[in-house]
Formats: sequence, structure tokens, C-alpha cells
Amino acid sequence: MAASATTRSEIRHPLFSRIYPKINAFAEAHGALEHRAELLARTAGRIVEIGAGSGANFRHYPPEADHVIAVEPEPRLRALAHRAAADAAVAVEVRAGRAEELPLPDDSVDGAVVSLVLCTIADVPRALSEAARVLRPGGRLFFYEHVRSTNRKLARKQRIMNTVWPLLGGGCNLTRDAEQAISDAGFRIEHSRNFDFLVNGRTSPSSPCVIGEARVQPTGNDASPVVGHT
Ligand SMILES: C[S@@+](CC[C@H](N)C(=O)[O-])C[C@H]1O[C@@H](n2cnc3c(N)ncnc32)[C@H](O)[C@@H]1O
Repeated sequence: MAASATTRSEIRHPLFSRIYPKINAFAEAHGALEHRAELLARTAGRIVEIGAGSGANFRHYPPEADHVIAVEPEPRLRALAHRAAADAAVAVEVRAGRAEELPLPDDSVDGAVVSLVLCTIADVPRALSEAARVLRPGGRLFFYEHVRSTNRKLARKQRIMNTVWPLLGGGCNLTRDAEQAISDAGFRIEHSRNFDFLVNGRTSPSSPCVIGEARVQPTGNDASPVVGHT
């Protein structure tokens, strides 16, 4: 179902916002809980979580992440995030807003988190440039995304399914290359783990996934070469 934008900070997805919590519960029962824990294990300090959805990540932040600002444009999901924030072990502040225009000052966070969201954001380069803007120098971007397959057959299937997938999945795309987008935005990928998220041993169009960390590139002569992926 198509999104309707109401204000600059809101994107309404009435159908997707009702079904996503169920999709997420299913994914978490089959491995996504572990992925979320892996994504967030090394977060620390002041964090912005971009497109936080229903707040499924909140319970996985370690005590070192002492303040999480969760930005979510969809009102129904944001209401669920408010509830999840109340139960979180770390301080979570939920705000309306969108990735392309983060409601935060420059250099104001130690970490930025994107999980299952670069597939959906309308303007990914702008969103990543916003993440770089709000990160302090040396700050890190933590990412967990489903991505375009490197397997030709599955990539073809993804391309075909992507003709309808965004209509059902709140704008979600199957064909994006998150790591390439992150590198193109000027981040240095410090490590990443690619894997297939199988459910009951089966591959789906959203199976190819990546979890990793990237750092804002230092500017000028301090810039160091890109580190290889693990
Ligand atoms: C598949 S859900 C993932 C939610 C959450 N990050 C998670 O890991 O469960 C995609 C999320 O991206 C949000 N989103 C869509 N467009 C966005 C934008 N332009 N800026 C920020 N969030 C956006 C949606 O509202 C939704 O919450």
C-alpha cells in the first residue's frame, strides 16, 4: 500500500504498520533476535536509531548505550515504540522524524543505527549524509539490512518480486545494496558479515543480509584506506 506523507516528519503506512509487528515477531522467532543483539552489542554513548519502527531493538541495547534517540515517522509504529521505550533497560527517547531530515544537531551522537530500514527510505544518499552529519567525528554507523543477492538466480527473483514487494511491504525494496550505499556516502566499512537469513532452512527474497559497522571518514590528510570486510 502506498504511503501518504502528512507532515515533513510523518509518513503514514496504515496497513504495513499493522502487519509489521507480526512479521517481526515471526522473524524474531527464527533468528532476528540474535541479529539485533549482534547489531547493537558494541553501541555506546548517545545513539540515534533511524526508522526505529515498533522499537524492536530497544531491549538489545547494552548499558554502555546510555541515551537512545529513536526517530520514527510512522505514527502507529511510533506509538508502539513509545511503549517499548518504557520497558527498555536504557533511556530511550522516541521522536517523530524522517531519516532525510534528522531532528538532531551536527556532531551530536556517538553512534547511528539503521536496521531493516535502508531498504525502505525514499532517499538513501540523503539519509546517510544526515547520519554522517549528526555523528561526531569518528562516530560509528551500525547496520543490519537485507540486501540484493550476489547469487544471479536469486537476484533475478528479487528483481521480479520487487515489482510488487514495495506495495505490500511499506515501501521496502529487495534490490538495494546497503554496503555500497554506505561506502558511497563516505563511510569506511570497518567490518561486515554477510549471511542468508533462512527460515526453517528455506531461502526467501529477503534472505541475503548484512550486519556491520562503518565509521565516518576523517576528512583531509587523516583519511586512511578502506579496511577489508570480514
Ligand atoms: C521494516 S521497518 C524496520 C523497523 C525497525 N528498524 C526494525 O528493525 O524493526 C522499516 C521502518 O522504516 C521506517 N521508514 C520508512 N521511511 C523512512 C524514512 N524516510 N525515514 C525514517 N524511517 C523511515 C518505517 O516507518 C518503518 O518503521
